[in-house]
Amino acid sequence: MLPGFCLRGYSQKKSIDQRVDSLMKLMTLEEKAGQLNQYSGKEVTGPVTGRQTYLLNDIKAGLVGSMLNVRGVKDTREIQAAALQSRLKIPLLFSLDVIHGYKTIFPIPLAEAASWDLEAIRLSAHIAAKEAAASGLHWTFAPMVDIGRDPRWGRVMEGAGEDPFLGSKIAVARVKGFQGEELGGTDAVMACAKHFAAYGAAMAGRDYNAVDMSSQLLWETYLPPFKAAADAGVATFMNSFNTLNGIPATGNSYLQRDILKDAWKYKGFVVSDWGSIGEMIPWGYANDLNDAALKAINAGSDMDMESEAYKKNLVQLVKENKVDVKLIDDAVRRILYKKFELGLFDDPYRFSDYKREQKVMNDPQSRLIARDVAQRSVVLLKNPDNILPLAKTTQTIAVIGPLGKSKRDLEGSWIPQSDTILVTTLFDGLSRKISKSSKLLYAKGCNINDDKDSDFAEAVETAKKADIVIMALGESWDMSGEAKSRTDIHLPGKQEALFEAIRATGKPVVVVMMAGRPLIFDKIADHASAILYAWWLGAEAGNAIANVVFGDYNPSGKLPLTFPRSVGQIPLSYSYYNTGRPVKNLKDIKYKSAYIDSPNGPRYAFGFGLSYTSFDYSDLSLSKSSIKGNESSDLSFTLKNTGKFAGEEVVQLYLQDVVSSVVRPVKELKDFQKIALKPGESRTIRFTIDKEKLSFFNRSLQWGAEPGSFKLMIGAASDDIRLEKTFELGL
Ligand code: NOJ
Repeated sequence: MLPGFCLRGYSQKKSIDQRVDSLMKLMTLEEKAGQLNQYSGKEVTGPVTGRQTYLLNDIKAGLVGSMLNVRGVKDTREIQAAALQSRLKIPLLFSLDVIHGYKTIFPIPLAEAASWDLEAIRLSAHIAAKEAAASGLHWTFAPMVDIGRDPRWGRVMEGAGEDPFLGSKIAVARVKGFQGEELGGTDAVMACAKHFAAYGAAMAGRDYNAVDMSSQLLWETYLPPFKAAADAGVATFMNSFNTLNGIPATGNSYLQRDILKDAWKYKGFVVSDWGSIGEMIPWGYANDLNDAALKAINAGSDMDMESEAYKKNLVQLVKENKVDVKLIDDAVRRILYKKFELGLFDDPYRFSDYKREQKVMNDPQSRLIARDVAQRSVVLLKNPDNILPLAKTTQTIAVIGPLGKSKRDLEGSWIPQSDTILVTTLFDGLSRKISKSSKLLYAKGCNINDDKDSDFAEAVETAKKADIVIMALGESWDMSGEAKSRTDIHLPGKQEALFEAIRATGKPVVVVMMAGRPLIFDKIADHASAILYAWWLGAEAGNAIANVVFGDYNPSGKLPLTFPRSVGQIPLSYSYYNTGRPVKNLKDIKYKSAYIDSPNGPRYAFGFGLSYTSFDYSDLSLSKSSIKGNESSDLSFTLKNTGKFAGEEVVQLYLQDVVSSVVRPVKELKDFQKIALKPGESRTIRFTIDKEKLSFFNRSLQWGAEPGSFKLMIGAASDDIRLEKTFELGL
């Protein structure tokens, strides 16, 4: 067979397996190792290697399987053309971090997680994929499915929060959104479940740090979203920078071979994180790049992102019989399979279409979708006197604070192709809504991370002229994200002092907090008239927040991770263990598992979020109060909208296994539904209780349920349980 056999017209009827086999028979060992090599384009998203010059030559020689950080139809076509000059004309895979939008920037993933709205999240990933795919990309390095329980870790912004159940559901929604029902559509890209595994538990919240973790915690909390993504057909996995109990994840065969490829029978491929194969040297796990390549390939890392360990060493390692060629073949097979599934052998340019790029990138519908998910992501933390929603006819509103007119900060990190200029600021969003006779004033007051208060006076004067003040406070876009760990997660700079100065005017103050992580802001929490946690909501932030402020959208977000009172409590989760000395009464903490200077509980709990309306929960019943074997019981209760606004409530099902062979948390989220009700409307809500929901990993890490009593809890938040019942699992 001649080179080029695999292009359009080649025996389309053959199965992908057969096509991969035929191609692999033609490949030299060098070409096989080439498929495992991934280079970055000019843009860098990690430490720079300094290499650029021989890149095109390597591509033409068939020594590169994939590129990251190249995008746009023009560039991808040019570079693909170089790959098609190689002997076997194997097309390249183009990849990029499309994390929360490509051209249209959506809310950061943590914000979207606060929507608990799986369809909105799926749609957001779909639009991102559609835009990315129209710009020549085949593959996004998303979703990040790492559980994050430490808000010091800057990358909590990129995940779905602290909970394995919610995290798994969101992982599936994102995989489906990015990939569509199956690979190959030109409005979809391959997804990548990252970072395998336990990266979110980096010690002390410091990025790239070590992880020491029990098997119990790993299996119960950190692995489930990865398993869910694998089951949903995620095309690729990325390993991680951290060690897990002493072994770097990149060189960890327990994770990549025993769990992922053997136990879970995962058929996609694993890409290393940026340079993580080479980073096993400073970790003290590999002598040099050669040793690192040996350890990584043995452990199941299929593709080498940017460390050139495979490129420089794999061929020699095979020739010296140090690496079994079967491992190389397995990795190559996995990668080629995906290239066939994407249809790249039939048309290597099928994602790089100038017309589609033009059309897709400017679709106004995408911004409306971004606005919708953005408003769903806002969490109302406080509104005791129902000051919100504001009337559009409010005479004078003052917007005060460093984020009031900011565009860039509202996008967060990872914004591949954004037109930042088109971001709607909070000020713009509000000004579009107010009535003609109303006035909107503005004063910045201070910068985000200032240590001076020289502009406070002007802000105070502005506040005095208003009937109501909306303060726009929070973090700048580069304060949360990769390599953005912080030891102090208080609202930065002088912003709380600015709040105090404005509050002293006696005007009602609504605070809109925009950040990539949970922040601590005690004075605001105690004294603001209302608080909206608006994260970083992307291109439509201002319009979305304005919709919420004026009641055109009734907030329905719930926190996807715990907001601590202090850094000293971290890591803190709703799903804690009771201990042998639980605190029952805050006045009696002597010899109890408590702090002497703070309550144990959070400032705002997982699952918490208010609405402009109120919901009543009643009439909990179970079709059976005891089940055995494969039986199930139907749980039902009535949810009623008892307020004046139409609204959505996220009803949450928690349970606790009361006594078991391994100590269980006080509660674990096991299901949820987001329900829309009109004022006065009520509905019967149903959940099924079956053995699966009662199961956990036992001492031998077997998944199963143990007979005995369970506490079932229905809540509006993890700390706001409205209905409870006990339930038995029989023998
Ligand atoms: C390092 C990050 O950890 C990873 O998430 C990202 O996909 C790569 N850099 C590529 O940019």
